[in-house]
Amino acid sequence: MATELVEPSRRDFLFIATGAVAAVGAASAVWPFVSQMNPDAATIAAGAPVELDLGAIAAGQSVKVKWRGKIIFVNHRTPKEIEEARAVPLNQLPDPATDESRAKKPEWLVVIGVCTHLGCIPLDHQGDYGGWFCPCHGSHYDTAGRIRKGPAPRNLDLPPYSFVSDTRLLIG
Ligand code: FES
Repeated sequence: MATELVEPSRRDFLFIATGAVAAVGAASAVWPFVSQMNPDAATIAAGAPVELDLGAIAAGQSVKVKWRGKIIFVNHRTPKEIEEARAVPLNQLPDPATDESRAKKPEWLVVIGVCTHLGCIPLDHQGDYGGWFCPCHGSHYDTAGRIRKGPAPRNLDLPPYSFVSDTRLLIG
């Protein structure tokens, strides 16, 4: 696999680190830079909730967590990303949904990382709208995970989640 040499930002580094964990195996629900409970593989496979410590995720960063065999993106959105998501008129959206209906707390967006077209894993912080870009057939999602352009028929799905405290997220 070709590797582009880039000067990684902290966010890029975390992205790369996540890929490395995925390549090694699914033994961990999230890469080790994020302190959290680490249920064993059998527990994860059974679909147990996954708890994530949000305190280590700076604004502008995105992390991936594995839950029920799916990638979950947890984005710590910046004020600019939130503002952009909230400024979009609903009539410009192929699958209209307010940002408020998609983010229980404005600064945290939690979505299932499966493109709603044919199921590829989209790339975060990419695409024309700064959210996700699916390289398989060119779907662009915005910073609320809403489909904006391309063949995907609907917004990125939302997993069940809740905030256990100000700094802990429970997925599932
Ligand atoms: S699977 Fe994502 S655009 Fe086709």
